[in-house]
Amino acid sequence: MIPIDLSGKVALVTGVGDSESFAWFISKALQAAGAKLYFASHPRMVGIVENILEREADAEARALPYGAGELKVEKVLACDVAYDTLEDAPEAIRNDRRWNKHGDFTIKGMMDKLTPLVPGVDILIHSVAFSREIKNRQLETSRAAYLEAIGISSYSLTALTRAVAPMMEARGGGSVVGLSYIGGVRVVPHYGGGMSTAKAALEIDARQLAGNLGSKNIRVNIISAGPYASRAASAIGDIKKMIDHAAEHSLMPRPIGADEVANATAFLCSPLASAITGHVLYVDCGYNAMGV
Ligand SMILES: NC(=O)c1ccc[n+]([C@@H]2O[C@H](COP(=O)([O-])OP(=O)(O)OC[C@H]3O[C@@H](n4cnc5c(N)ncnc54)[C@H](O)[C@@H]3O)[C@@H](O)[C@H]2O)c1
Repeated sequence: MIPIDLSGKVALVTGVGDSESFAWFISKALQAAGAKLYFASHPRMVGIVENILEREADAEARALPYGAGELKVEKVLACDVAYDTLEDAPEAIRNDRRWNKHGDFTIKGMMDKLTPLVPGVDILIHSVAFSREIKNRQLETSRAAYLEAIGISSYSLTALTRAVAPMMEARGGGSVVGLSYIGGVRVVPHYGGGMSTAKAALEIDARQLAGNLGSKNIRVNIISAGPYASRAASAIGDIKKMIDHAAEHSLMPRPIGADEVANATAFLCSPLASAITGHVLYVDCGYNAMGV
């Protein structure tokens, strides 16, 4: 048997908003393999996530796969990945209690809080995406929404990777995994508002970063997941229709499960994937391979 053993590894996981998030399932898979977890969640989601981590009603959602026990997170840190430093945040956000009750809620603020808590970082999960105009077609997408979507959904991979890279280097290497969607390379109706562009950018940025950091044994990969009814996906429009369509037209005619994305992520973060970097791995039941 070849085990995936991540014991002693520290994982920084972005994008946990609730117990349906891909990042939630990814966290459970990483911990089932032995990793210690730190969450960097949107400031407005921190309380919700802390509740799910404690409430009796959510005990089932916390159960780790493979009978590995119950999900335990060392700390949920607030991080709005739209901002590198407090100077970048508009005054209205800096003065908003939902953000500033966490102190410095930017990437720098989150890293300043994380650094004294950990011996280093081995794994970074980028599972964040946002567009305020996701329902707008490309033709109707405003410049502001387009740039915001790219800033939050794509540039944040670069900013977060830059922030953790020295801590990974000190550990002898590390693994970064981001989440993409086929809407970044093919036309998917309803995937507008700059999100398709953001995913295209995310994929090439991951390859660029993999090149920048390869000599330091830091690997950067992307999982392109099939459609799945998370909170973000439900904002797209008819997610059920998209899931049914993908299921009907995939090589394996069924929907994907979040646990399957999580298992593939654990593999990419493990020594079993030691020569895999700059790769986009489709976890989509083969939908991407279809011609018609
Ligand atoms: N659900 C799907 O069908 C699907 C398919 C392929 C890829 N993906 C990708 O998977 C990733 C995770 O999405 P999900 O489906 O789990 O949905 P989700 O809503 O559970 O996760 C998205 C997360 O992004 C966070 N976020 C948004 N703006 C942020 C900001 N400014 N700062 C910090 N966090 C912010 C949200 O709080 C949320 O936790 C995204 O990159 C998404 O595009 C989703």
